[in-house]
Amino acid sequence: MYTAETTDTADTAAATADTADAAGATALGQPLLSPADLGAFRLPNRVVMAPVTRARAAGDGLVPTAMHAAYYGQRASAGLIIAEGTWVGEQAIGFVNVPGIYTEEQVAAWRRVTGVVHALGGRIVLQLWHTGAASHPDHLGGRRPAGPSAINPRTRSFTSGGFKETVTPRAMTAADIAATVADFGAASENARRAGFDGVEIGGLGSFLIAQFLNPRLNHRTDAYGGDRAARRRLLLEIVDAAAVPWGGRGVGVRLGPYWTDGELFRADEETLADYDALVSALNDHPVAYLHLRGRDLAAPGEAPDAGEIARYRRRFDGPLIANNGYDRASANALIASGNADAVSFATHFIANPDLVTRFAMGRELAAGDRATYYTGGADGYVDYPISDWRDGLG
Ligand SMILES: Cc1cc2nc3c(=O)[nH]c(=O)nc-3n(C[C@H](O)[C@H](O)[C@H](O)COP(=O)(O)O)c2cc1C
Repeated sequence: MYTAETTDTADTAAATADTADAAGATALGQPLLSPADLGAFRLPNRVVMAPVTRARAAGDGLVPTAMHAAYYGQRASAGLIIAEGTWVGEQAIGFVNVPGIYTEEQVAAWRRVTGVVHALGGRIVLQLWHTGAASHPDHLGGRRPAGPSAINPRTRSFTSGGFKETVTPRAMTAADIAATVADFGAASENARRAGFDGVEIGGLGSFLIAQFLNPRLNHRTDAYGGDRAARRRLLLEIVDAAAVPWGGRGVGVRLGPYWTDGELFRADEETLADYDALVSALNDHPVAYLHLRGRDLAAPGEAPDAGEIARYRRRFDGPLIANNGYDRASANALIASGNADAVSFATHFIANPDLVTRFAMGRELAAGDRATYYTGGADGYVDYPISDWRDGLG
């Protein structure tokens, strides 16, 4: 619906509304609250909800529930919701109770979620995920996970028996790779049928796409390994496949160049050079936005380093969403500097369903309860209150 062609009249009306909105945001002194066009997505504000796994899907079918509709509906005032990492197929699974988008039951259940968000005026895209070698036989009926090469990523997988160490995977065959690209394409089409406004390719973390990008885990000698251009081929093929259902306009990409995990995921000079080249290469593919996670803060309360994001602003021609450790002040400063178009918030959105209201009204933010992040159930999920509209009225 947000990709609909507009008439001249509609364009003029939208431009007038944008000018008025921008003036309002300026009056609030918060560029974060001004509208923005992110590729196919027209946002009323630049406060994006980052994807957060909450492990609340129901049963063996990994189906989102009415609670998901309530949870995302509560957060519909976000400029854009990026819904939690969601499996593109059974091979992708690597964490308990995370939903999928590969069965008709899942598609129907997601339709209720997108329906509620749209009825409340929101926009929602779905993050597509595959854990690859970071899965565990417990998720795969006892079978070994598959990854770029037979190298243990030496990370941990959250199973029904708690966190478990990963194992040595089997190397994906050419047929496995083709099937995986096809799974992302089919999942993207399913997301469109489920009413999402687009999808985001989840390239962050220690999962499949990041494994292929990583020279320490990708020792392939075929077209998908050997040099940095080959290592990024899987991601680029996935982007192209996922873009098909959206006419080439509805696919965002999430990357974590600074991601560190154990010995094998590290942001050294070679990694950063690989990501520089990858981000430049994305310009030749149908990418609606690039969603970047910056380095972890050295200490809580420190401001994120805008230079980390600026590095990619210089290389990527499209809209850019920044993430990791931002608050109202640092996010407004980043938007004002021109180094990002929007900022995403994960932990703040968990505990503050009305985050945009709180930013607009200058209210305090609530803190989330980490103990209930992945526990299932309504507690710590749909019971965070909105702030009192009487606050600060004098
Ligand atoms: C509970 C939790 C679940 C997360 N799940 C995902 C996910 O599904 N996909 C993803 O790309 N990042 C995920 N992340 C990372 C966040 O999107 C984000 O990068 C991180 O929390 C830093 O942002 P913040 O400082 O605004 O919290 C998760 C983070 C948390 C705390």
